[in-house]
Amino acid sequence: MFNKLQQKWKVSSSQLFLILCTFAVTGTTTAFISRSITSWVGFDEQTFWAWKLLLRLSILIFGYQFIILIVAFLFGQFPFFWNYEKKILRRLGILPVKQANLAIFASGKGSNAEKIIANFSNHPHIRVSLVVCNKVGAGVLDIAAAAGIESLLIDKETFRQAGEFAKKLKNQGITHIILAGFLWKIPSALVEAYPDKILNIHPALLPKYGGKGMYGENVHKAVIAAGDRESGITIHLVDEHYDHGKTIFQATVDVHPDETPESLAARIHVLEHEHYPRVISSWIS
Ligand code: GRF
Repeated sequence: MFNKLQQKWKVSSSQLFLILCTFAVTGTTTAFISRSITSWVGFDEQTFWAWKLLLRLSILIFGYQFIILIVAFLFGQFPFFWNYEKKILRRLGILPVKQANLAIFASGKGSNAEKIIANFSNHPHIRVSLVVCNKVGAGVLDIAAAAGIESLLIDKETFRQAGEFAKKLKNQGITHIILAGFLWKIPSALVEAYPDKILNIHPALLPKYGGKGMYGENVHKAVIAAGDRESGITIHLVDEHYDHGKTIFQATVDVHPDETPESLAARIHVLEHEHYPRVISSWIS
């Protein structure tokens, strides 16, 4: 359980200890303050129970948020808890929601890119700002042009200079990268510049049928040749290895006895279009 929390919050074991101390001290302090204030305002056994409950709950819910910041400061954990408070304030609409600017990396037909662009065209906080492509004449470039989205054609050399390329994306305000049929491996400098902010979709149930060379028809041929009765899609975070990062979402389709790579690809595409925009939206939120 502690390991899971450490991974979730991306903290060291000593920081996790200080965070848990903050929660514990805040809990007892808030309970003590709530009791003291209740008696200070003169509430006793004769007071109508609902008034007491209302006062106690207000202190426990709202007072807790202030007290936790003070205690966090004492434990040297203010930045961690302030981020956590900002999330609550954003959800309550008190702080403005951060704008997410997506760059879609694609080099094919771009049917996924098209669905994603359409899905976010009127979104209040998420917008597709850039399409990055490595193939002259790729369908995705027409899709970007039709939607009025800037596109960037890159060559291998630009991509190898990943540190510079990442800087360029950051200067353009890109906050997240969405891979939708992009075949080049993402260089580590780009992964480091966008930690847990790069998402990929793969047309199979990873970890099966992933890795170098496993794309498009090759994947579906391999699934059918292996006699699998089920295939599907995997949406995952991107790390330095092909098709390897943490899985965010999977959905399955049956593989029919008379299946061809084309028929399987078509059904997988339907599944991708149905889920990818929705998963991107909840991942960012
Ligand atoms: C999709 O099947 C996706 O899973 C894979 O590349 C394909 C891109 O298709 N990564 P499209 O260009 O979006 O139609």
